[in-house]
Amino acid sequence: MNAGIQTVAYLFASVLFILSLGGLASQESAKRGNFFGMIGMAIAIIATVLGTSVAGHGFIALAIGIAALIGVAVAIKVEMTAMPQLVAMLHSFVGLAAVLVGFGSYLDPHTATLTGAAHSIHLIEIFIGIFIGAITLTGSIVAWGKLQGKIMSKPLRYFGRHTINIALLIGSIYLCVRFLNAQGTTGLPELLIMTGIACFIGIILVMAIGGADMPVVVSMLNSYSGWAAAAAGFMLSNDLLIVVGALVGSSGAILSYIMCKAMNRSFISVILGGFGESVSSSSAKEIEGEVLSINHNEVANLLEEANSVMIVPGYGMAVAKAQYPVYEMVKTLREKGKNVRFAIHPVAGRLPGHMNVLLAEANVPYDIVFEMDEVNGDIESVDLVLIIGANDIVNPAALDDEGSPIYGMPVIEAWRAKKVVVMKRSMAAGYAGIENPLFYKENTRMLYGDAKMSVDSLNVEL
Ligand code: TAP
Repeated sequence: MNAGIQTVAYLFASVLFILSLGGLASQESAKRGNFFGMIGMAIAIIATVLGTSVAGHGFIALAIGIAALIGVAVAIKVEMTAMPQLVAMLHSFVGLAAVLVGFGSYLDPHTATLTGAAHSIHLIEIFIGIFIGAITLTGSIVAWGKLQGKIMSKPLRYFGRHTINIALLIGSIYLCVRFLNAQGTTGLPELLIMTGIACFIGIILVMAIGGADMPVVVSMLNSYSGWAAAAAGFMLSNDLLIVVGALVGSSGAILSYIMCKAMNRSFISVILGGFGESVSSSSAKEIEGEVLSINHNEVANLLEEANSVMIVPGYGMAVAKAQYPVYEMVKTLREKGKNVRFAIHPVAGRLPGHMNVLLAEANVPYDIVFEMDEVNGDIESVDLVLIIGANDIVNPAALDDEGSPIYGMPVIEAWRAKKVVVMKRSMAAGYAGIENPLFYKENTRMLYGDAKMSVDSLNVEL
């Protein structure tokens, strides 16, 4: 394929990637967005592999074939709830690729033929590409370990860690200066030492983050992996990789920012592992009141009596795979003339859009699915809020207990409704590991049991 056709193909693929991102912005167009992305990626791979400077097509086809088989097998097997871990692991591959491309570029004899400013710029691209790639590599592995439960999820915070981070950064800048002044490939030791330092920074940066901040870390690593890919694009002089890397890098950063806003957390504080926060442990308020349980028959009666019902799904609905019977129940209630709405918290479940994906899977119409901000305003008028496997996202401590670790995070204010029924298996805490005063409120009743089994029973009763 000649260079002109390749450039046109790259341009076309870039447009498809932009359309893909645009499509992913809403549930209605998400499928179309994914489709654009797939076509764009196929064009990108074909145009690159058929480029004039590429040889060994047989090996490339074999590698793509094996990778495709692994990818399909993993995608079929992975549980929706384990998606963040999978995404984190995939980010680590992008980081590793950027590191390998960096070393390959440095040792490539073509690099030695560059002179003057072009040579210096190329060396800076290599250094920065490997630096970001190595942080992404180890940071993503630690994020995977934390989400998979292989590494303790509690943030590892110790005295002087910010000083250590700054010292490591200064050390890396010093190595960069030495690397730029090295002749030929004699800067390899500096490059290797910097790679070690960056790998270490990746580990300590993500080890210092934990709990409810983990979703932000995954999206932040998504952003890093984009910048690592963009750096690889510069090293390889591949325009498409630069464009795609920048798209991934900036969209990941925007998503991290949106998530921080949803949890009322400072973006800078989260990405620097709690920078500027005190290390003191929280001192949550004593909870007053009594926990009252309810049975399926009584909940069915409450549903029969209610005119307006709001369903708040959470992680437990995903675990129980209760979305299908939930929608059956919603259809029955709507046939009885009731106003039924879903209320979705931005960080419900374990990944951005988790609940929206599950509800779309069960064919729930989009017009009865509302964002948190749209429902909190008139929640007093709701007769019954049904909380299905959610916990942290409906915790009043986020608003009224300054000692709570989630203080300041906006939540769905279910307790302001006339009646609340919480469906979960026990009194166990949610992701943030804290008690929920909602369960002790006068207007709350607990319906214990697996969410799917409970909703199945309610469907029989109704
Ligand atoms: P959580 O606070 O984690 O609560 C989920 C509840 O579901 C648990 O208390 C659990 O109680 C219950 N549960 C588990 N399995 C169940 C089953 N089979 N049937 C019924 N209930 C079941 O979930 P949430 O309210 O959705 O809040 C999300 C939390 O995860 C937030 O803290 C958020 O910051 C964090 N997080 C979010 C993301 C994103 S981006 N969405 C990513 C990572 C972390 P029992 O054990 O008593 O049943």
